[in-house]
Amino acid sequence: MAIFRYPRPASSDITPKDVYLSRREMLGAGALSLTAALAGTASADALKTHPGPYSGGLAPTPEEFVTGYNNFYEFGMEKDDPVSHSGDFHPLPWTLEISGMVKKPQRLDVGALLKSSDIEERIYRMRCVEAWSMVIPWDGIPLAKLLQAAEPESGAKYVAFESVVRPSEMPGQSSAFSGISWPYVEGLRLDEAMNPLTLLAVGIYGESLPNQNGAPIRLVVPWKYGFKGIKSIQRIRLLDRQPPTTWNRLAPSEYGFYANVNPQVDHPRWSQASERVIGSKTLFGTKRQPTLMFNGYGEQVADLYRGMNLHDNF
Ligand code: MTE
Repeated sequence: MAIFRYPRPASSDITPKDVYLSRREMLGAGALSLTAALAGTASADALKTHPGPYSGGLAPTPEEFVTGYNNFYEFGMEKDDPVSHSGDFHPLPWTLEISGMVKKPQRLDVGALLKSSDIEERIYRMRCVEAWSMVIPWDGIPLAKLLQAAEPESGAKYVAFESVVRPSEMPGQSSAFSGISWPYVEGLRLDEAMNPLTLLAVGIYGESLPNQNGAPIRLVVPWKYGFKGIKSIQRIRLLDRQPPTTWNRLAPSEYGFYANVNPQVDHPRWSQASERVIGSKTLFGTKRQPTLMFNGYGEQVADLYRGMNLHDNF
């Protein structure tokens, strides 16, 4: 089994304590970095992963930010809630169902998938709709591989994803404050789901996913805003119509079905032209950088949207 190590950023690339303590989100990640590191290593298993396409070039964000600064409302609304409140969640055993308009419905044993040698490393930019970004070294398998095995019917045009519902293990699901109707749901067009970049991740940094990052299996669509990356997926269904999505249901004028990263289409309440780079620093605080069209993946995905009005289809 290959033990692999990611290139660690130089210590000069890591936000100094006084800088991150001055920012609320940095406070969450910084104060929790030790807890996150412990939670991340306590139950994580090393994966048999090998470099896939897109596994070079980008320097990953330090692990404590990736595992300590999260959105996972099933565990609470604050960035440090997922790492603090996901200790009672037991991701294995886990069955992932692929059903709907397919010739061969599948029930996948995710525990077995974690032991497979098909797992690829993909280092992707991640851009949250809240205008921050990270670079995350994922380990996973292309979604297309699993969908092809299920043999989509010719009428299938969309893919619907559903997260797990376990209020006894997920305190955010029993809270009256979330306002979200569970399960968290997401969707893609079938051609987006089949794009080689679209990944079902089972790990980060060469080890199985920590609970707060969506154990045991979650979606990664690097040219779209992070909320499309649905976590702890139990069910995937192929449909002939566009499925509802959690954020679109909550605020349809703010979060569209497509959610492609686009610096020219602002969120109604803030600009999307640039992003805060989580885990970085400058003399003046967290580094800001311009946001790239399709998050830098235009070469691979722009054709999917040829002729489409991206302002209307945000
Ligand atoms: N999936 C579920 N089930 N529940 C969630 O609250 N949050 C989304 C997405 N997937 C979310 C989810 C949002 S808003 C973002 S930005 C990403 O997960 C965050 O992924 P990360 O915490 O691994 O960076």
